[in-house]
Amino acid sequence: MKTVLGIESSCDETAVAVVHGGDEVLASVVYSQVPLHRPYGGVVPEVASRAHVQKIRAVAEEALRQAFPGAADPWAGIDAVAATCGPGLAAALLVGWSFAKGLALALGKPLLPVNHMHAHLWSVRLGHPELREADLWPQLGLAVSGGHTCLVHAPRPGGFRLIGQTIDDAAGEAFDKAAKLLGLGYPGGPVLDRLARSVPAGERRAIRFPEGRVAPDHPLPPGLRADLCLSFSGLKTALLTHVRKHPPQGEAEVARLCACYQTAIVDALAKRVGRALETLPCKSLAVGGGVSLNGQLREALTALAARHGVRLLLAEPRYCGDNAAMIAGIAGAGYALRDAEPLARDVDPSLPV
Ligand code: KG4
Ligand code: ZN
Repeated sequence: MKTVLGIESSCDETAVAVVHGGDEVLASVVYSQVPLHRPYGGVVPEVASRAHVQKIRAVAEEALRQAFPGAADPWAGIDAVAATCGPGLAAALLVGWSFAKGLALALGKPLLPVNHMHAHLWSVRLGHPELREADLWPQLGLAVSGGHTCLVHAPRPGGFRLIGQTIDDAAGEAFDKAAKLLGLGYPGGPVLDRLARSVPAGERRAIRFPEGRVAPDHPLPPGLRADLCLSFSGLKTALLTHVRKHPPQGEAEVARLCACYQTAIVDALAKRVGRALETLPCKSLAVGGGVSLNGQLREALTALAARHGVRLLLAEPRYCGDNAAMIAGIAGAGYALRDAEPLARDVDPSLPV
């Protein structure tokens, strides 16, 4: 059983964690840069990579202190170093990946490259050693974050097959852009989620937004099914058009608008998940990424999983957003990317699932 130090720096969180045996989290430290990016209403890559450089060493030392309190040499407890090498922002990825290379060389330990999206799907396992492999596979995975929205079918652990994805904006981006448009701050997901909670279920479809269908003849990479793909860019345009025609008056109207917009996103995701569950063998549904914190999405997926008789695996809230426990976890479980020469490897901002 390996104890892995994991590093995550693909976007705006500087994170380091220590995980034993794939699911036992000894420490997970996340330094969030959200306040730095808030004034811009989104992540500024240059600001992100600088902040990673400034923080990564302190975050790593804090993770080690927490993982091995009082140890004379906490580094001695680490069997391998894992880090995200893609997908993500190039300059941000480079900081964590280079730091990981340096650590692995200095410690004389293996370096394990991790795909960020695989790790989001692994996040459901963190803190849950009781999950039995035999009950989980084949698995449908939904990763929904600020940068990605994808559906993955995994016949076995580590066997990821991309079957659907957004052809433009990610689900989290759709939340963030709406919040920006409505002047509600950044990140948008938590704000829309909170406002939507105050709106009765019966009013959440009062304003209709496009469902983001992808035309059957839309050119897609091999393996992807158009009926499992989504498009979110029309949604924000529809919101803009609606707001221009009917500017919301007062907090209750803003909340209702947010609830309807959120419903469109949740319905679009739930519809694709439902179709995948109908047409593919699945024992479990694993959901990760920042958007998986969304209350309405959680409700919709809970209902879907019950209807299809599959086990729903949701990451614990602290492991939904970007974190390094998912990186150390998946690597420790043996599902890092295979690479004979990881030290020669570069980051890949558009690393495929
Ligand atoms: O996974 P994550 O932390 O970082 C990326 O890899 O992108 O996801 C961040 C995204 C943001 O777009 C944020 O608005 C969204 O997750 N988010 C939510 C909620 N909390 C965070 N979206 C909907 N509802 C939420 N409660
Ligand atoms: Zn992420």
